[in-house]
Amino acid sequence: MASVQDFIPQPYTGTAESGSFTWSAPSNIALVKYWGKKASQIPANPSISLTLNNCKTVTTLVFEKKEDNGAFSFDLLFEGQPKESFRPKTEKFFERIREYLPFLSQYHFSIDTSNTFPHSSGIASSASGMAALAVNLMSLERQLNPDMTQEHFDQKASFLARLGSGSACRSVKGNVVIWGEHAETPGSTNLYGVEYTPVADMFTTYQDTILLVDKGEKQVSSTLGHDLMHGHPFAERRFAQAHENLTAIKQALATGDVETFIKITESEALTLHAMMMTSNPYFILMKPNTLQIINKIWEFRAETGVPVCFTLDAGANVHVLYPEANKAEVLQFIANDLAVFCQNGQYIEDQVGSGAAVVA
Ligand code: PMV
Repeated sequence: MASVQDFIPQPYTGTAESGSFTWSAPSNIALVKYWGKKASQIPANPSISLTLNNCKTVTTLVFEKKEDNGAFSFDLLFEGQPKESFRPKTEKFFERIREYLPFLSQYHFSIDTSNTFPHSSGIASSASGMAALAVNLMSLERQLNPDMTQEHFDQKASFLARLGSGSACRSVKGNVVIWGEHAETPGSTNLYGVEYTPVADMFTTYQDTILLVDKGEKQVSSTLGHDLMHGHPFAERRFAQAHENLTAIKQALATGDVETFIKITESEALTLHAMMMTSNPYFILMKPNTLQIINKIWEFRAETGVPVCFTLDAGANVHVLYPEANKAEVLQFIANDLAVFCQNGQYIEDQVGSGAAVVA
């Protein structure tokens, strides 16, 4: 397992004057949730997620050598248009990763980003966005250090992405990623996400249809949300529960035990929201339509026996999870019974994917 020291590079042997890379990185959806953190983006408990396939960020990094005056220099674009509002976050990210990528102040960068999902969908773009930027920066570092192994590339990309946005470290790899120290997962670490294998075939093609219940701005930023776990009356028990749930869901994923998968996934979603409802200040991030959808899913599952379940992010949207084998009937159910609870009837069809990829 790599330590922080392993991510501080030795003097570079390669050179890079100018060039560009383009990578895509997907979003991910946590099954066991990360909620609560310590300094330097260290999670209070381990989490596990499904990497998505269709919801992703595509980022082109253009670089050109400049005089190293210690300052960062970059232009930011969103879908080809200048996007100055991204500057503070990017500047902060560069500052945080400077010691791990000492070349950052030696180049002028142009960073052009676009998302495959609608802009104000309530789908956080920070996980896919930070992961896409991290793999691009690693491509440049690989050019400067041609001996770099693929393992180091992946680990450090995830390590850097984590420093941008915690859950982003789970977006570098697929299909299932664990982040955070877990006694029963050898190789697990707080520093970066690791791929979890073996996973039963059915989970490698699992479907996630994201119902857009509320496309507005997040009511509670995840930074504030994580903070609310400091001094939370149930925090310690919750963190311990995440370890237990991770042990159980790993087993379920490996053996194809859908029943256990459903129980833990739904309980984790409701626990995340329960933590917010019982914090100080308190929040209800679900909307009436979120509850309507959850009840409809439970009714449908009881009536048909189709193993469909839900999970939630820190918001009102609902992720509907189900096996590919049940795709036709679940999509029919969503169109008939759930779309009415979505804003403008909108939802996004996604499924498990394999992580960041170079775009030709
Ligand atoms: O990565 P952050 O700091 O935006 O936190 C994400 C937190 C949840 O999405 C609610 C849970 C998770 O594990 O992804």
